[in-house]
Amino acid sequence: MKNIDWGKLSFSYTKTDYIVYSTFKDGKWGPAQLTSDFNIALSAYAGVLHYGSSCFEGLKAFRGVDGKVRLFRPEENAKRMVRSAKFLDLPAPSIEQFVEMCVMAVKANSEYIPPYETMASLYLRPLLIGSNPQLGIRSSSESTFLVMASPVGTYSGDKILVPGTAVVGRNYDRAAPNGSGSYKIGANYAQSLHPYNIAHNQGYRELLFLDAKTNSLIEEFGSSNFFAIKGNTYITPDSHSVLPSITNASLRTVAADLGMKVEMRPVPLIELAEVDEVNSCGTAVVITPICRIDDKIRLEDEQPSHVYKFTDECGEKSRKLYDQIIGIQKGLLDDRFGWILNVDC
Ligand code: PLP
Ligand code: COI
Repeated sequence: MKNIDWGKLSFSYTKTDYIVYSTFKDGKWGPAQLTSDFNIALSAYAGVLHYGSSCFEGLKAFRGVDGKVRLFRPEENAKRMVRSAKFLDLPAPSIEQFVEMCVMAVKANSEYIPPYETMASLYLRPLLIGSNPQLGIRSSSESTFLVMASPVGTYSGDKILVPGTAVVGRNYDRAAPNGSGSYKIGANYAQSLHPYNIAHNQGYRELLFLDAKTNSLIEEFGSSNFFAIKGNTYITPDSHSVLPSITNASLRTVAADLGMKVEMRPVPLIELAEVDEVNSCGTAVVITPICRIDDKIRLEDEQPSHVYKFTDECGEKSRKLYDQIIGIQKGLLDDRFGWILNVDC
C-alpha cells in the first residue's frame, strides 16, 4: 500500500499508476490497455474538444472490514453511461466491457485503495469521449473510453456528515425541461461552472437548482441529488431533468427496507419550511447534510429573499441511512440487495 496520508485526502485528484483505455475505430472496440502515460494523444479536431461529445461516470472501490475490495453497483454506472452515450450518439462500451475495465483499473491501482479504517476510498472516473477528427456538427464516429482512478476522502477530509450551506440562484438554470439534465454529460457541468464559482466564492458548499420552467420546484444540487426527511418519509424530486443518482436510488431502497415511506414527486421549494432534514447525496458527496438554504432572486445578490434553516447536525434518520449505505460498501453489513462486486486484489 502506498505511503499516503489518507486522512488528509479530500475530493481531489491524486495521481495513481495506471489508466485503462480502449478505442472504438472502424466499427469495433480495440483491446483494453493499461498505460502509465496520462497525457493522451488526441487530434485537435476531435469532436470532444469542439462540440463537447463527452460523458462520464463516478463510482468507488472500498476496502472492507475483512480486507476485501468491493465495487459499489458498477453495472448501474455502466447502464447510465450507455444511456448518456446514446443521447450523444457516441459509440459506447458494453456493460460487460465497462465493468471489466473498472475492475482492471482497481487491480492495476490496488496500492492506492485506502485502508478500511479511513473514510477514504478509490474513486473511479470512467470517461467516454468523441475522438475522431471532424469539423462539421455531427456525432463522433470514433470514441475513446478511459477509466481513471484516484484515492479520495470526503469533501471534509476524514470527517463525515459535516453539514454545509447551499444557495438557490434563480437567475441560473441547470437543465431545460426537455434537455440533457438526466444524462451525465460534460456539457451539463460546463454550464454550471460559472454559477458554481459564484456560490463557492460566497462561501456556499452547494448550489441548488430549481426547474427551469416554473422556477419553483427543487431539481438537484450541481454535484448531487436532493433528498429531505419529513417525519418518517424520504422525499426526493421526480423530474426528467435530474440525474438519476445511483446513491439516491440505493437510499430509497434502504429507506423503504427500514420501514420509511418513500415519496418521489415534485418538491416545491417552499416545502422546505416543513421538512426536518435536508441532504445532498451522490458518490462523491455520499450524504452531506445541508443546514441552511438561502433563496436568492439573483445569485449575485448579497442578501437572500428567503432563508430555510435545518438542524445544525446530521439528522437522526439521515445518519441511519448513511450507516446502512457505508455499512454495505465496507462489508460491515450483509450485501442484502446484491449491490457489491468483489474485486480480487
Ligand atoms: N447529480 C449530479 C448532477 C451528479 O453529478 C451526481 C454525481 O454523480 C449525482 C447527482 C449523484 O449520482 P450518483 O449517486 O450516481 O453518484
Ligand atoms: C460523482 O459523485 O461521482 C460525481 O460525478 C459528482 C461530481 C464530482 C461531478
